[in-house]
Amino acid sequence: MTPSVNENKQPVPRHIAIIMDGNGRWAKNRGLPRTAGHAAGAEAFRKIANYCRTLGVEYLTVYAFSTENWKRSADEVSGIMRLLGNYLKEALRDMEKNRVRFCFFGDLSRLSPNLQKLCEEAQSKSSDYDVQVNFCLNYGGRDELVRATRLFAQDVVDGKAQPQDLTEEMLSGYLYSKDVPDPELIIRPSGELRTSNFLLWQSAYSEYVFMNVLWPDFGPDDLDEAISQYNRRNRRFGGV
Ligand code: FPP
Repeated sequence: MTPSVNENKQPVPRHIAIIMDGNGRWAKNRGLPRTAGHAAGAEAFRKIANYCRTLGVEYLTVYAFSTENWKRSADEVSGIMRLLGNYLKEALRDMEKNRVRFCFFGDLSRLSPNLQKLCEEAQSKSSDYDVQVNFCLNYGGRDELVRATRLFAQDVVDGKAQPQDLTEEMLSGYLYSKDVPDPELIIRPSGELRTSNFLLWQSAYSEYVFMNVLWPDFGPDDLDEAISQYNRRNRRFGGV
């Protein structure tokens, strides 16, 4: 498929994934509670999701809450969950206008029944739209691989599969990201140089762009910069 081209005439990846990092430091720099940083992060997400749509990005995956983020204070956790709930309510209201397809990667069973319901509703009501936003919620790359292994083992027990038949393609089909192409570009703002359990399988050949800006300050110019760094990379996929 031909990649789409933005206003600056640069090709854009089909799938961009982002680790929305730096909300806490953004708030601390301003003497604000961490939750204010997440609220500003949610605003940055809204802008970037809109911008991705205008650029023609087909899939945007964001790390909203990891399996490890439960270690944070109850206040901070409930603040993030509230922001997600508010966003989903707003998305459900504006669904016709925005035409975004919602998908959720992660074990949603640990979320409040209310939030689970909003996720299910957002996913089912948006299934016909084309631009896909994947929210990683109570998501961990290792957890995803354990879950996939369990599902495959169960298929073997049920006589639906044989261990020796397992291929990379088949294993991909047991992941939350089934039917979604791997991200070509993964962006981590905030100056941290880690993958933090994000899309471990899917990132095998992704190009990483690490940036010094904190997520709440991340704007369309930063996305342009990340895409232009991506366009200067020479992707060889193990070849020469
Ligand atoms: C990491 O930054 C960020 C998170 C764990 C939460 C991300 C959540 C949001 C941006 C809000 C979600 C809502 C929507 C609508 C997308 P950090 O808190 O670890 O930052 P720090 O490293 O500076 O402390």
